Amino acid sequence: MPIKIDLRYISRSLKLDSMENFVYNVKTKIIFGRNTEDKIADEIKLIVPNGKVLLHYGGGSIKKNGLYDKVIAQLRLANIEFVELGGVQPNPRLALAQEGIKICQEQNIDFILAVGGGSVIDSAKCIAVGAVNEENFWQKYYVERQEVTKALPIGTVLTIPAAGSESSGGSVITDEVNERKIYANGDVLRPEFSILNPELSYTLPKYQIACGAADILAHIMERYFSNSVGVDFTDQLCEAAMKSLIKNAPEAIVNPLNYDVRAEVMLAGLYAHSDCLGVGRVGDWATHDIEHELSAIYDIAHGEGLAIMFPAWMKFVGKNNPHKVVQFAENVLDITLGTEEEKIAAAITTLKNWFKLLGLKNNLREFSEISQEKFQLMAKRCTPNGTLGNYVELTTTDIFEIFSIAW
Ligand code: NZQ
Ligand code: ZN
Repeated sequence: MPIKIDLRYISRSLKLDSMENFVYNVKTKIIFGRNTEDKIADEIKLIVPNGKVLLHYGGGSIKKNGLYDKVIAQLRLANIEFVELGGVQPNPRLALAQEGIKICQEQNIDFILAVGGGSVIDSAKCIAVGAVNEENFWQKYYVERQEVTKALPIGTVLTIPAAGSESSGGSVITDEVNERKIYANGDVLRPEFSILNPELSYTLPKYQIACGAADILAHIMERYFSNSVGVDFTDQLCEAAMKSLIKNAPEAIVNPLNYDVRAEVMLAGLYAHSDCLGVGRVGDWATHDIEHELSAIYDIAHGEGLAIMFPAWMKFVGKNNPHKVVQFAENVLDITLGTEEEKIAAAITTLKNWFKLLGLKNNLREFSEISQEKFQLMAKRCTPNGTLGNYVELTTTDIFEIFSIAW
């Protein structure tokens, strides 16, 4: 028997018209494949011929695997002047970005080269905004969410397929003092170029491959779970992208030196968040904001947080607005037997099992540092405007329930 839609939840978000108007403006030049990091200096010179560069990186993985030496040697050979700022932590901190802003302003930096994952790239974007905007840039662009229109140009060398920051216009930063993880947006924040060599991801620990895959899947699902109509083309693109990732990500963990599999996952990460799958449709994005509360307060990996929160969200919305969850079950997971309720339940179980297969946790209670006492606070912080999300507009109470399901 079909599930009855509860109109209390979707009356304001249900779209009954057609594909939304959109502007799709991804300026990032993608340079993909083996040895593509050899082109860093040429690409920088195309953008800032005599420019001075800030080289930004994380906690040391690029020093261990030799990428750092390769980058430095190339910049020196090309006579590109640069200063360095390493030490970006996962869930990148505002304090380090502020240090970077100071360096850029004092040393007249023209370009930022981010070598690493989403955290390094997002930190570079924050520095790029702060370096050329007024002192209250944090309040204006991250807290008030005004669109960023001015920033230093950046380029990236991606070392982990995950966040999609290599082509996105977003920068997600943790304000550690206030335990807040918030983001700024603007097409100007999309990198000028991004170098994607799947071989650079060979040294990733299995846990990071898994977290990355969970984030990639989540970026597609956030766009897929939509009430927009007239979006069959992007529906089918999303379904194909999810099927490919679901097949290849576990293989990347079992067989880490398989170039073809690494290339598939890296390409999926790029497409998942460059927004080509989201054009013309209203995405949901509630689960991302819900997860950001977890990683802001407990400093857990974004991908693992999503792996736990997405099935819980799906269980909640499956009761209130089931149509897309059923389509997901049928077209992505090939679940064709049973009632709508049974298909939804089977989809949630399959999804949880896939995350488990990747080696990720399934429930919040598996984290020793997380307790239920902050669920109410986090749910409240997710809903400063009353509700969160578009596929189903969630109230604070709904989000509290989703946290409880995830527990
Ligand atoms: O810091 P190092 O030593 O480099 O180690 C990193 C880090 O510990 C390690 N790593 C990366 N590449 C490696 C490697 N280790 C060995 N070999 C390699 N090749 O992996 C760890 C995680 O890195 P991180 O950059 O944090 O991962 P990810 O790319 O998943 O980025 C996560 C951040 O991106 C944000 C998340 O919220 C989180 O803060 N997001 C950014 C988005 C955007 N800008 O558009 C959208 C996303 O939804 C997401 O919110
Ligand atoms: Zn994400």
